[in-house]
Amino acid sequence: INVKPTIVVIFGGTGDLNMRKLAPALYNLYSDHFMPQEFAIIGTSRKKLEDVKFREMLKEGVNSFSRNGQVEDAKWDVFAEHVRYTPVDVSAPETFAGLKELIEQYKTDFGEQTQVLYYLAVAPDLFPLIAECISRYDLAGNEETCRIVIEKPFGRDLESARALNKLLTGIFTEKQIYRIDHYLGKETVQNIMAFRFANSLLEPLWNRTYIDHVQISVTEQLGVGDRGGYYDGAGALRDMIQNHILQLLCLIGMETPVNFDADEIRNKKVDVLKAMRPFNAEAIRFATVRGQYTKGWVEGKEVPGYRHEKDVDPESNTETFAALKFFVDNWRWQGIPFYVRTGKRLFQTSSVISIQFKDVPHHIFPSGVSEHWQQNRLIISIQPEMSIRLQVQAKRPGLDMVLNPVDMVFDYKGTYNTSTPEAYETLLLDVMTGDQTQFMRADQVESAWELLMPVINAWENKKSLSFPNYTADSWGPEDAEALIARDGFHWFTLPLNKD
Ligand code: BG6
Repeated sequence: INVKPTIVVIFGGTGDLNMRKLAPALYNLYSDHFMPQEFAIIGTSRKKLEDVKFREMLKEGVNSFSRNGQVEDAKWDVFAEHVRYTPVDVSAPETFAGLKELIEQYKTDFGEQTQVLYYLAVAPDLFPLIAECISRYDLAGNEETCRIVIEKPFGRDLESARALNKLLTGIFTEKQIYRIDHYLGKETVQNIMAFRFANSLLEPLWNRTYIDHVQISVTEQLGVGDRGGYYDGAGALRDMIQNHILQLLCLIGMETPVNFDADEIRNKKVDVLKAMRPFNAEAIRFATVRGQYTKGWVEGKEVPGYRHEKDVDPESNTETFAALKFFVDNWRWQGIPFYVRTGKRLFQTSSVISIQFKDVPHHIFPSGVSEHWQQNRLIISIQPEMSIRLQVQAKRPGLDMVLNPVDMVFDYKGTYNTSTPEAYETLLLDVMTGDQTQFMRADQVESAWELLMPVINAWENKKSLSFPNYTADSWGPEDAEALIARDGFHWFTLPLNKD
């Protein structure tokens, strides 16, 4: 992979995201020889820091959070020479002058081809301010020389997302804007496209004639931890469904792209969002469930309820769990429900898509032959198990005719025995090579907000006194079971292999 000389500028350089994700990803890219010969990483934040101190902070971050464990000191020292720090304060825009000077120096050293990537790993209220400063200091370049990476959340509703898109596209072209959804960088998520479109046996079955329903569960054992301040203004719908889960749904629901071109793929995804049935009052009542966790026990330790978490309003109306039933109103999916659920402090951390096929049209085996009759299911496990399982009925060995569901399994660990890149490695490399396939285009983000706005508004306006609660370490509120049980189904869970 050929990468041009690159300067990565990280706003929020001393923040958590850089320490946990960006620095380890950049170091791993360097270790695996994906960084170009000439590159620089410039960290910025309001703090005054020497380069040496900043490098130490990054090293600690990489040592603590890299998938590859501790760095090799000699290799790190060479990498660290590429790392610089300069303080920038958006409330004092003149501090951009120092950053500009540093960028200019590197550009002179690296040559005309140099590209600058601005990574905004900061609170969303700073996105517009930083973008404006980049423009004011004439740092926005063009499609060849400059890109801007925006972390989530991209807006907190349709209106703010539109305003942010308007502001950004007034400074940059769409080709320069990389809106991150880190789920799209996950190995197993990227494999959904490969699995669907590089195999001929699935496509004939991938429609309303053979598929019964689809489930997407992204469950987390952790609570909000020290992110209460952000989370209380967001909630599960905004935090997980508007972005990650709807993107997964698009990958399952999309039509076959003509080629692997970034815009072609994003067109096909946006088609799914546009075909999704809008929520009216009845759908909000019967096809959505929210919940909030109360105190409970997780692995032998008592954990507080959501309203007692740090920086959370003690009377908070924010949902920490959401389950919804969607429909995609097009020829392929008419009438087929897509159930999604996500939440914090649930029984298990896992992200799994289950595609349940219709039953055989006629049962030839006498009743009693099958111990646990199960319609065929395709299970795409994104994490922690990374696998694709096809559940089929098979005869159990023995003289009797007894049927049992069994799994045909592709699992990454068994097949490849190698660690997979972190989402941020994949995505940062994509930004460096100028590949927007796994990034959200303006219309995708806006369509996703548009779809959810009626639910967001209804939930915000209806401050329920008896908020539907669930105990930490459970599978969420009972209403979520009822949502799917009414249609005769159960939520699918993949028992975790603890080894
Ligand atoms: C983030 C959310 O986007 O995704 C977090 O803000 C959530 O609340 C996280 O915990 C989940 O990501 P992953 O990769 O751990 O599944």
